Amino acid sequence: MNGYKIVICGGGSTYTAGIVKDLIDQKDELGIRELWLYDIDKERQDTVAVVVKAVIDDLAPEIPLHVTVDPKEAFTDANFVMAQMRVGGLKMRIQDEQISLRHGVVGQETCGAGGMAYGMRTIFPMCELVDFCEEYACKDYWIVNYSNPAAIVAKAMHKLRPNARILDICDMPVEIEARMAEILGCELSDIEVDYFGLNHFGWFTNVRCKGVDVTDKLKEHVRKFGYISEASLNDALVKDPDWAHTFKNAATISTLFQDYLPNTYYQYYLLPDACVEYMDINNTRGMQVVNGREKRIFDASAALKRGEKVDLTQFYVGVHGRFIVDVVKSLAHDLRHRQLVIVPNNGAIENLSDDATVEIPAYITDRGAEPVRVGKIPRFYKGLIEQQDACEGLVVEAVIEGSYQKALEAFTLNRTIPSARVAKEVLDDMIEANKGYWPELK
Ligand code: G6P
Ligand code: MN
Repeated sequence: MNGYKIVICGGGSTYTAGIVKDLIDQKDELGIRELWLYDIDKERQDTVAVVVKAVIDDLAPEIPLHVTVDPKEAFTDANFVMAQMRVGGLKMRIQDEQISLRHGVVGQETCGAGGMAYGMRTIFPMCELVDFCEEYACKDYWIVNYSNPAAIVAKAMHKLRPNARILDICDMPVEIEARMAEILGCELSDIEVDYFGLNHFGWFTNVRCKGVDVTDKLKEHVRKFGYISEASLNDALVKDPDWAHTFKNAATISTLFQDYLPNTYYQYYLLPDACVEYMDINNTRGMQVVNGREKRIFDASAALKRGEKVDLTQFYVGVHGRFIVDVVKSLAHDLRHRQLVIVPNNGAIENLSDDATVEIPAYITDRGAEPVRVGKIPRFYKGLIEQQDACEGLVVEAVIEGSYQKALEAFTLNRTIPSARVAKEVLDDMIEANKGYWPELK
């Protein structure tokens, strides 16, 4: 039989329908034999699957869809696994955000105390996924991983499962590139970037549009308006006030630090006080997602079950799906597309240690990512990155060793946390909240 068996792990995600749409858009170039959804939460996945089935019936009814909570069934002979697990669900995301904010520090999914807590929940479940693939999947399987916090997850996998065929990615840089294309009035596919850093912690050093250097032009715009432009006002993501605020915040950072263009996530590390002031403990980002994106998919599922018609295009937004499908396609067919991915440094950034977990451009081949050489980076950026990479390394070690001390060191090193005293207080509350998810810390 021709084509690949593709599995979406975390089938119950609010993003699944969008990813499936992008798989269908590229089904002929990719080659799809069957599509599987896998999740540990049956009820949630069955709900989302109703919408996914409607998308397939609408656009590509010939693709067989299977929905399962049985790992053996899901991963047997799998070629590509798109991973997007959220350990603890949105319920724990909201906990992470609220506990942090109660201590006056950034309450965020992947950054700061919340990100570290989420990382400590996700490391072992990711190992389990790798082990399922090693046991059941095709020998040359690939896991393309969106599961957050990607920086910590990637670092842990490089250490615990060094031979796993896993490639860690994040859509934020591409989403920013989409804003850049809007600013410039070109297509996203016209844009090529140079970039270095960690995941959710990087800088664009050069941007080209159809081969022409547009970096200075973009810097001028971003210093004034952030990543927002006239054209972006119609974008579904920018219409979300929280994202609009995030994209605007890049103006402050790129005015203070004019060498490069920042990843939006730097707002949490460089402007943590302003972020805490902006955040609302009674309407955290996780709560907004529950009342927005999640509610829309659940409502659509219910309506479809009642036999009503639903506008499925509401789920076809952003570059999230397109990006992961492109990475899979490039792995499958050795297309050598240039993408930003998360890999062990191994000398790419010359003055960072080999085991730093960096996000840099790479050519995506059928043997994995072939990273581009970055060279030396200036002291300020190096200092920032080394501190954060050490923090993330300590999170990983805390989990592996079950070490309270290392967790405390990680929380203390994180830029969003002002003192060791606050670090200890947040950590102790996180331990309580994460019982059953974290290993015991001694
Ligand atoms: C971007 C990041 C993801 C993150 C998401 C959160 O796409 O790259 O890592 O999970 O934003 O978006 P949300 O709408 O859930 O706050
Ligand atoms: Mn991301």
